[in-house]
Amino acid sequence: MVITENIGNTSVRKATVADKKFWFSLDKHLPRDAFANKLRDGRCYVLSVDGISVGILRYDMLWDEIPFCALLYIDANYRRRGYGAILLRAWEKDMAESGHDIALTSTRSDETAQHFYRALGYADSGTLDLHDRPTELFLSRSIDR
Ligand SMILES: CC(C)(COP(=O)(O)OP(=O)(O)OC[C@H]1O[C@@H](n2cnc3c(N)ncnc32)[C@H](O)[C@@H]1OP(=O)(O)O)[C@@H](O)C(=O)NCCC(=O)NCCS
Repeated sequence: MVITENIGNTSVRKATVADKKFWFSLDKHLPRDAFANKLRDGRCYVLSVDGISVGILRYDMLWDEIPFCALLYIDANYRRRGYGAILLRAWEKDMAESGHDIALTSTRSDETAQHFYRALGYADSGTLDLHDRPTELFLSRSIDR
């Protein structure tokens, strides 16, 4: 198992097939048959606290060149304890070490995650309106080393 980051009692690592049940307990968007390819590409991370899995992050590459955090989800019982920040920063560090200088994400404009991203230094980078869906906010941050 590759540990990406170890901070105090938390660790962030790439997800494996053994995480599948936990993964889909939090991720209600990813098609089940897409998980294997995500794992193969190393685009899923799991955050654990005292050995218990409590958070996930998966990403894509916009235009095959900009890391785009597609989902960050912390178990509701573990929110507002800094774990979302630890997971996001671990991903940014991985992306920076791979040579990327921008991290991108998006979130629904009618949800509160936008405040989380702004608190972590993300700047508003525009919106997307798709048919009847709520407006999606895009946010980005420089991750230069
Ligand atoms: C958004 C989310 C990942 C944040 O994770 P978290 O572990 O609760 O966040 P942290 O404890 O690291 O928060 C860091 C800072 O962000 C800000 N913040 C986090 N959640 C916030 C909220 N709901 N409202 C306002 N500010 C918030 C605060 O400034 C916080 O610092 P503080 O607690 O000292 O005030 C979590 O709430 C979650 O999983 N939500 C559901 C899924 C989701 O919306 N994901 C994002 C879009 S894909």
